[in-house]
Formats: sequence, structure tokens, C-alpha cells
Amino acid sequence: MLSTLTSLNQTPVFGFSNSPDDTIRALEEKYGAHHYERLDVVVRQARGSWITDVNGKRYLDCLAAYSAANPGHHHPKIVNAMIKALLGDYGSVISNVVYTDPLGLFLSRMASFVPQLGTRFGAEGNKVLPKNGGVESVETAIKMARYYGWKAKGIPDGKQEIIVFDRNFHGRMITVVSFSSSEKYRRGFGPLTPGFVSVEFGNLDAVEAAITPNTCGILVEPMQGEGGMQVPPQGFLKGLRAIADHHDLLLMFDEIQVGLGRAGKRFCFQHEDVVPDGLVLGKALSGGLVPLSVFVTNTKLMDMAFNVGSDGSTFGGYPLACVAGVTALDVIEEEKLAEASARQGARLKKAIEDLADRSPHVKEVRGKGLFIGIEVKERNAMDFCRQLVKLGLIINDSHGHTIRVSPPLNITDDDADLLVDRLGQVLL
Ligand SMILES: Cc1ncc(COP(=O)(O)O)c(C=O)c1O
Repeated sequence: MLSTLTSLNQTPVFGFSNSPDDTIRALEEKYGAHHYERLDVVVRQARGSWITDVNGKRYLDCLAAYSAANPGHHHPKIVNAMIKALLGDYGSVISNVVYTDPLGLFLSRMASFVPQLGTRFGAEGNKVLPKNGGVESVETAIKMARYYGWKAKGIPDGKQEIIVFDRNFHGRMITVVSFSSSEKYRRGFGPLTPGFVSVEFGNLDAVEAAITPNTCGILVEPMQGEGGMQVPPQGFLKGLRAIADHHDLLLMFDEIQVGLGRAGKRFCFQHEDVVPDGLVLGKALSGGLVPLSVFVTNTKLMDMAFNVGSDGSTFGGYPLACVAGVTALDVIEEEKLAEASARQGARLKKAIEDLADRSPHVKEVRGKGLFIGIEVKERNAMDFCRQLVKLGLIINDSHGHTIRVSPPLNITDDDADLLVDRLGQVLL
């Protein structure tokens, strides 16, 4: 460790080329896929709620990397834990054919961080299957529901159906884009994965009507992020729970964007006092420092569906990610991030609603905790966002018509006030 520390001082700092921003942009344009529309900012550093560009200009982060940076960027406690893991030579992938301390610690911490899921399957606790990007864990949830349909309900393999919702967003791999409502996500990428039926978000009658003898599960975001920051009618999640129980379906919640305090509770589903059978988490699970996602479910279900060879991932649950994960869960608890999100979210939403009352542009303000959408009448949210970037905010739209307000959960009152001031400058 001492030799690593000594040589650290001599290591050139990668990522500080001091190139002008045009050169950095040009490299990305020439060598990268053009799959993102970028804001015109070249970022050099980020700490807490603030981001600094290559010219030293500071921006207030109102996006928090779509909820990945919930505890703020480079949270010191998580960074220190990761540095220790690297300096102590226990951070690398060794392979899941051996046991490692960090994985066991992370799994046990994660299993009890979530309330007992799938209560009708017993109270023997939860089990956790770790992956990297969020979409991988969504696929794990889909595998779980299909397996349950086949094994427990006797649906012929290949015929299982899962109910999903219009305007859903669960990631970008083939299976999940197969049931996206967005034509752009699917066109030209066929053959698509069958076995999904999409119905209106918030409509319980539509869910009932979509059920067939082959239905094995329901996959839903308790609030939709990419779909325009949509809050379903109160009672929707409870209704889904009742339908799932009645028809023996697995109810899966994707809380990759709205879980871990974002919506003002540890989990968004706690707003309705229901628990799902399976839960998908990602993004902020590592404090946004390395990719880490999980599928969590009742012990009985996990043991039923997954055994040697039926799943796996080289990096899923590797030590560095687990160290980040355990520490990020500590930070959520110690710093009461869910409570902070509820308090600041209520304060911010009230201020934005006051502003909306006076604005000719705002159609609706909606959200819970620090997950707030401002839908604009002209459906051109990005035009407002580009003006806000010039005023020093990192902010973007959701679904074209809604300005997304989702800063780090520990944003200060002063910074939240600054955000409202800048919103006022473009919306009034
Ligand atoms: C609700 C939801 N599910 C899944 C994903 C996919 O996660 P990832 O991009 O890490 O694969 C996202 C990403 O934004 C998301 O918001």
C-alpha cells in the first residue's frame, strides 16, 4: 500500500488534458456514437451539488445524473471507502467463483435495507442479485416473473406475458426497448422480444382487461421518470397489489430512478403502503461512482428461479462496487437523505407552484420529494432548459414537454433558492 501511495504522487492525472473545450467536443463527435443530445457544457469536475466546466464556470446540478448522484457528487465517505479498497488491494474483479467480504456485506445490508418483499411467499427475508447498469437488473426481474409463470403457474415456456405501461422507461437493451412506447427506441432494431402487453399508466381497469391465462407479472415504475415525470393517481400501486394477489402475478417495481430517497421516502412505493414482490434499484446505489444495480426479491422466489448457471455477470457484485454500495447505503441512512428530500422537495415544489401561478408558460407542476416536473404549455421544455444552462444550471427535459427538477437530495436551502430564482428568470 505504501508503494502505491508513493507512486500515486508521480502518476499523471488522467482527464486533465487542459485541451480547450472545442477539442474535447471534437474527440467525442469523431470517435463516439452520436446517441445523446448533449448540453453545451464540457465538465471538468463535480462535487456535491456543483459542477465546474473546463473554463472554471460553475453550474448547479439540477439533474443529479438522473438520480445517480443523489448524495451529491464525489461524496467524501464513499470516495474514501473506494480509495481504501483500491489501496488495500481488495477492489478488483476476482470472479464470482470465489467468496469475497465486500459482496457478503453488501448483500446482507441490501437485503435488510428493503422491507420484506413478496410477503405472501413467506417471511424468511429477501435475497439480492447484483448487476451493473440498471437495465440488467430490469432483465433479471423479467426473468424472475417469466420463470415464476412457468414453474409455479404452469404457463407453457415461451408463452409468458408481462403487463407494462405506456410511456415506460426501463433502459435501452433489446428486451426492454421491445415494449417501449417510443417508436424511436425500437425502429430498425428487430426482431423484438415478445411477451409484453402495454396499458395506460394509472389505469387499473386496463390492467384487469389485459390479464390472460398466460400473464405472469406486472412491471411498473411507481412514478415515471423518462415518461414525463408522471405521478400515478393515489391508490394505483395498491390497486396493482390487489390485482397481482388476486391473479397470482408477480408485481415488480422499477425504482431505479425514484427509489433510495429521491421521492421523499426510502422507496417510492412507501407513499402507498404497499410492497412489491420484486424490486429493481440502481443509479444512486453506489452514490453514482460505479455502475451497480440489484434485483431484490423474497428468498423463496429467488431460490426458485436462480440456481447455478441460470444467471451471472463478471462485474455483478464485484468488490469495488460493493464497497461503494455498502457505504452509499450508510450515507442514505446517516444523512437521512429521504427525509431531506421530503423536506426540501415540499419547499421547492411550493416555490415552483407559486412561480407557476404567475407564469404564462407552465401547464402543471407535479412530483414527490425532489422529483419534480414542470410541464410547459408549448411542449418545448428543452428551450427553457437551454436558457437555464446559460444561467448556470445543469438541467434537462423529460419527454419533451417537462422540465425535470431533480437535484442531489442534500441540496442546501440557498442552492434551492438559487434554482427557483433561475427558473423564475425564464418562466415569468
Ligand atoms: C426507471 C428506469 N429504469 C431503468 C433504467 C436504465 O438504467 P441504466 O441506464 O443504468 O441501464 C433507467 C435509466 O434512466 C430508469 O430511469
